[in-house]
Amino acid sequence: MMSHKIRTPINGVLELVEVLERTQLNADQGEMLCMIHESAGALLQILDDLLDYSKIEAGRLTIEAEPIDIREMVDNAVGLLAGRAHEKGLKVRVDIAPDVAVTLRGDSVRLRQILFNLLGNAIKFTPVGEVDVQLFVASQEEGVQTIEMTVADTGIGIAPDVQTKLFEPFVQAESSTTRRFGGIGLGLTICRKLIDLMNGTLTLQSELGRGTRMAVRIAMPVEAERYSVSGLRGKRGLVICEDEAVCKALMHFGTALGLELRSRAGTLRGIMQSARVRQRRSDFHERSRSSAGVRERRSAHHPPH
Ligand SMILES: Nc1ncnc2c1ncn2[C@@H]1O[C@H](COP(=O)(O)OP(=O)(O)O)[C@@H](O)[C@H]1O
Ligand SMILES: [Mg+2]
Repeated sequence: MMSHKIRTPINGVLELVEVLERTQLNADQGEMLCMIHESAGALLQILDDLLDYSKIEAGRLTIEAEPIDIREMVDNAVGLLAGRAHEKGLKVRVDIAPDVAVTLRGDSVRLRQILFNLLGNAIKFTPVGEVDVQLFVASQEEGVQTIEMTVADTGIGIAPDVQTKLFEPFVQAESSTTRRFGGIGLGLTICRKLIDLMNGTLTLQSELGRGTRMAVRIAMPVEAERYSVSGLRGKRGLVICEDEAVCKALMHFGTALGLELRSRAGTLRGIMQSARVRQRRSDFHERSRSSAGVRERRSAHHPPH
């Protein structure tokens, strides 16, 4: 009730800003409105974090256990943030191992929130390079998969002495961070608390100037192991992609859908071209074999004098 009252006014601001953006504005007004939009969005994020944090502290946050399609959950979180990454020129890669069950039992809203926070940080603190999201089965017991979800970036990294403090509320790596990157330092605290509530672990590996890797491990009961998409299982296909990692990720997704895939590195145009060259070569051989045959037959009929 209380949280609803706090969010309502800022949601009202955001909605009206969106309406105003669709009206005729001059360049200055457009720019100012864009800044209002960004600030209001940032304020809503801060309010969300504060409300979640106080709910957790009051022991009132409960973890749901519902069937979730983990690939859809990841897609959703990545979809919300990919635009921000692409604007900065960063590559975002997602790879989910084919043996990760299609339906697991867990709290999709909270899992998405964790991924959203970690991915948001990775994008925020990476000026150039890439951000990788990977999911794989760390261990499997009767009906339960322990999933490891990692978010790795090639960003600014975190100094060893601050790494342990980051999971405390309102802590940021350096004082200039707030001014440069925004945020209030609650994201990781919330992630850790949510993961604790799910009986999971969150580990951090980071090197200054090289990048950061966050790894979440959570055990989840398996609801359904494989997709049952009719008409796909057993069908064969070819994945062609220049980027080897993307190729692998596509193969993994296809395999999870039950497809039998092979992969080729390169572009579709390059592969078509070499196929055409091969075809021409074999046509040529075919023609020269048959004309040689004709010559042979002719010479059999008209033996040289
Ligand atoms: N991927 C990352 N790369 C570099 N620093 C990070 C990364 N993730 C978190 N941090 C550091 O940890 C601090 C706390 O993160 P977080 O709790 O999400 O707060 P916020 O994003 O609001 O600053 C950040 O301010 C930043 O200094
Ligand atoms: Mg954050």
